[in-house]
Amino acid sequence: MFFHLALFCSSLVAFCQERRCDSVIDSSFTSFNQEIELLIAKKKKNQHRLRTEETVYVIPVVFHIIHNGEPMNQGLNLSMAQVYSQFEVLNQDFRRRNSDSLRTPKKFGGVAADTKIEFALARIDPLGVRMKEIGIHRYNGGRNIWNRTDFEALVKPPTIWNPTEYLNIWVTDLSGLLGYSKFPTGSGLQEGGGWEQSPNGAVTDGVVIDFQAFGSNKTIRQFNLRTKYSLGRTLTHEIGHFLGLIHISGDGGCEKDDFCEDTPLQDGNSYDCKGGLVSCGAENMVQNYMDYSDDTCMNLFTKEQALRMKTVLENSIRRKELLLSKVAIKPVNPNPANSILLFPNPAIKFVNIDYDNITIQSYLIYNQLGQILRQQQVSEKLYTIDFDGLSAGLYFMVFYMDKKIEIQKLLLLDQVN
Ligand code: ARG
Ligand code: ZN
Ligand code: CA
Repeated sequence: MFFHLALFCSSLVAFCQERRCDSVIDSSFTSFNQEIELLIAKKKKNQHRLRTEETVYVIPVVFHIIHNGEPMNQGLNLSMAQVYSQFEVLNQDFRRRNSDSLRTPKKFGGVAADTKIEFALARIDPLGVRMKEIGIHRYNGGRNIWNRTDFEALVKPPTIWNPTEYLNIWVTDLSGLLGYSKFPTGSGLQEGGGWEQSPNGAVTDGVVIDFQAFGSNKTIRQFNLRTKYSLGRTLTHEIGHFLGLIHISGDGGCEKDDFCEDTPLQDGNSYDCKGGLVSCGAENMVQNYMDYSDDTCMNLFTKEQALRMKTVLENSIRRKELLLSKVAIKPVNPNPANSILLFPNPAIKFVNIDYDNITIQSYLIYNQLGQILRQQQVSEKLYTIDFDGLSAGLYFMVFYMDKKIEIQKLLLLDQVN
């Protein structure tokens, strides 16, 4: 059995190298690609080890909504509903839970994949503070329209959240461009076609989407979106690039490839929604998220594309770390009898508070001698409590709710600088 597997893998690598290393591809991309091929082969061989076919890869995301000072829900300051409609599409597409998966032509049905890659909204910000709008960060960029160069230089560096913990997604007006993405570092890919290198990777990594190609009008036609791009597929496509996929045509003629065996060779990208288009002797896979068709047409990633993305996720810098990130994990209540969850505990400087279906009217903080150090009326929902002025030590927090009182211990640690 072992012998059989080894033979399969080595022949696979040889096959890939023979077919895929053609001269039209620039040499550094070829070496990135060979590296990926080897890793894919290794992954196939080791599948039963660390991660199996059943493993779900979870990537925490933050949506930076870059507006121009508009009030919430107006202009570029997009509504929460629009952001969440996009988030839903993303998970549906990557997990093949999109309702239009039924429209994948029979002949491509066999290669269509649930990628087993999922996205989770960030719950805590880079300072550890619980986010009021889960997964959303709003920022006034001071302009109502952006070009790529200015956006890279003026918006990304001050707004990016640690790219090893968050997949950063910016949304703004991109002056006609639908979106663009950073390819995994080390690929040697030339800029263009929706992806670009990350020269100063850590301050610009991530994906940018135009606000009129962001979110979905599928259930309610409520958002201001361009007709052809109104189902949220631009982000699906750009995250494909972020995880190492290129356009299925390889952005060239029949001699160019996307390094995935189960997507057909295509004589260029397909536009609009032309089903039954034939090139290079086979039917174009216009339904692939990595083609150039309209959103209504797109409905699949293939198995090889999924494998490639997961291989990049497991190996690539500022990708593999995302799988270990804890920023999207919903904290579990260690004491289910409590209605209020305090985290982290021990805390430094502040504590986050999480509760549902109750109203906190006020709270008190006692020290161990039973002295009241703070007494606070609560009018809005509480997210965090600051411990300014309190020294390290053990405290008792007493919460007054409509019908009951809850007392919790909290350990405050010294700040280490
Ligand atoms: N032009 C962009 C790129 O190549 C995005 C294309 C997205 N297509 C779509 N139907 N949403 O990266
Ligand atoms: Zn693209
Ligand atoms: Ca292919």
